[in-house]
Amino acid sequence: MYNHHLHQQINRILQERQVDVANEDNYFFMRFVANAASIDALFKEIYGTHSFYQQSFQQLIELITNTYINRSQSLKERDAEKEAKGFWYLSNEITGMSLYVDRFCGNIKNLENKLDYFKNLGVNFLHLMPVFESPEGESDGGYAVSDFRKVDKRFGTLEDLQTLQSKMQEEKMYLMLDIVLNHTSHRHEWAVKAKQGDTKYQDYFYTFSDRTIPDQYDLSMPEIFPETAPGNFTFIPEMNKWVMTVFHRYQWDLNYTNPVVFLEMLENIFFYANLGVDILRIDAPAFIWKQSGTTCQNLPQAHILLRLIKQCVQVSTPGMVILGEAIVAPKEIMKYFGTGLYTAKECDFAYNATHMALQWDALASGDTRVMLAAQHEILQKPYGTTWITYTRCHDDIGLGYEDYMIQRAGYNPLEHRKFLQEYYAGSYPDTPAKGALFSVNPKTNDARISGSLASLCGLEKAIDQKSDNAIDLSIRKIIMMQAHSFFLGGVPMIFYGDEAAYTNDYSYLNDPGKSYDNRWMHRPVINWEKNKNIDKEGTTEYRVFQGTKRLIDIRRKIAAVGDHKNITWLTPHTIHIAGYLRTFEDQKLYCLFNFSNREASLTWHTFKEHGPFSQNLYDHWREKKYKIGNDREYFIIEPYGFYLMEMV
Ligand code: GLC
Repeated sequence: MYNHHLHQQINRILQERQVDVANEDNYFFMRFVANAASIDALFKEIYGTHSFYQQSFQQLIELITNTYINRSQSLKERDAEKEAKGFWYLSNEITGMSLYVDRFCGNIKNLENKLDYFKNLGVNFLHLMPVFESPEGESDGGYAVSDFRKVDKRFGTLEDLQTLQSKMQEEKMYLMLDIVLNHTSHRHEWAVKAKQGDTKYQDYFYTFSDRTIPDQYDLSMPEIFPETAPGNFTFIPEMNKWVMTVFHRYQWDLNYTNPVVFLEMLENIFFYANLGVDILRIDAPAFIWKQSGTTCQNLPQAHILLRLIKQCVQVSTPGMVILGEAIVAPKEIMKYFGTGLYTAKECDFAYNATHMALQWDALASGDTRVMLAAQHEILQKPYGTTWITYTRCHDDIGLGYEDYMIQRAGYNPLEHRKFLQEYYAGSYPDTPAKGALFSVNPKTNDARISGSLASLCGLEKAIDQKSDNAIDLSIRKIIMMQAHSFFLGGVPMIFYGDEAAYTNDYSYLNDPGKSYDNRWMHRPVINWEKNKNIDKEGTTEYRVFQGTKRLIDIRRKIAAVGDHKNITWLTPHTIHIAGYLRTFEDQKLYCLFNFSNREASLTWHTFKEHGPFSQNLYDHWREKKYKIGNDREYFIIEPYGFYLMEMV
């Protein structure tokens, strides 16, 4: 849409900055013109009535321009390569790993020496858990940031990070960093100035002189960490005011009704973009807009802000895509991909948190019906966007899917969730799992689950019991869980340690800065001596590492595994097996997983139900050919077994 005044305003700035709109910077210019009307409308929608509106909008345009100008030539070239590829991030050739730099290998410099480890496994995309400055003991794993531009000295320096990024770029690896958008540490300069009474900075946060408004908010706001950080406000004696602290007391929520806050944080986003971040993980985006009388989650204004960020990023630093870390109800997650005119124009990625939790549901019950009941929601994801698929991450497992999905499978939601919690926390009779409940809320009966992939799959107990059978079974579960998520569509994200069968690490209990948060049990400290076992046949590390590596390898060879919105769930012939078909051009890949501890069977008819079929199948996992049998003959899958059958 042409808007004379707006386009003149942009032109003026571009001329002042000597942007070469006709030649070298032509694509930037076109992107700017194409997105200008949206940027203008979105910004106006949120800040149009604010007294700083005019001046802030001018600053926004300047920021977009300066960011582009300051972007290095090599990143501009990389942007162009990615744009030429189209949706580069939908590819089946990307596999990620998420890790804490210090717990993985000490510091950023050492990570450079680990690039071969990733290469060996097949990982070409790294999510470094927060590395920016965060006060020790009050850091929430780095998610309480006291300086968005300074690498915490525990990890190294900004230079180290830049060197690592260049090395990764040379190796054609991708980098993901977080922007913790919702809050800062109470030790961030803005919070410190607010404490000193500076009202400019008090307006960066939600501050209140008495409890009247906080009490109103609290009526409808849930608690995130009810055990360790109940309530949503903290009294700050230095300023004699209450401040909104939705997460921990030391994490102050930023006030996005103030355009200055938005601009400051956008500048930080651009700072990361120009460091060479390929995928920006926006932490906790569901929380960035607050309105009393609501849950203060998933509000429409939060989506407007995310869309605005996306349009700005697309203009200045188009090679960087956005992951919205919205771990919310399935219907709500979907909205982070954008709706209406903004469909596929908000976040490029979201976590498939619903499916992750459903895998754990199916594994405990041996019944895949709840998983199937949710798919009609999950499949709404628009083309051009994708998932991070995963079985475990640094956070707990929340059973956040809807009650009706559980009811459709014939269970009582309350009892079913209770069963899952007890099964994974280790209190259910004879459960093989060893985890713990996280954030138990007696008011709502809610509880989430902590524990590593291996421990939740039974490996820790099996090793304690010295039972080879139980060890075998747990390894089968680990690999099956990973395979299911790797082939689902989206970019798989392995959580570090899971590739080498790490069980829970209880050392966090000795650290007062961590002992209150049992999520640390599944954030292991890597022991590289023990990791050498990945090459020693027969060890658990070897079996899990080699299995994971093979899965990545298979995935990379089959284009149909890329996310082309090409998944069809198979008709369930049995409640134990979850099966999906991935198709692309003339490729057909049937992925079948037995989630139960018993043999389960399908008829060969399964392979004849989806259009033209041939008589032959090739299982990439067993490297074995199969002839499609008679319709009434059974095809049997062993307990926790799976097949990756390509029609040939
Ligand atoms: C995200 C992070 C989580 C953190 C929270 C607050 O959900 O994944 O670890 O506690 O944000 O920043």
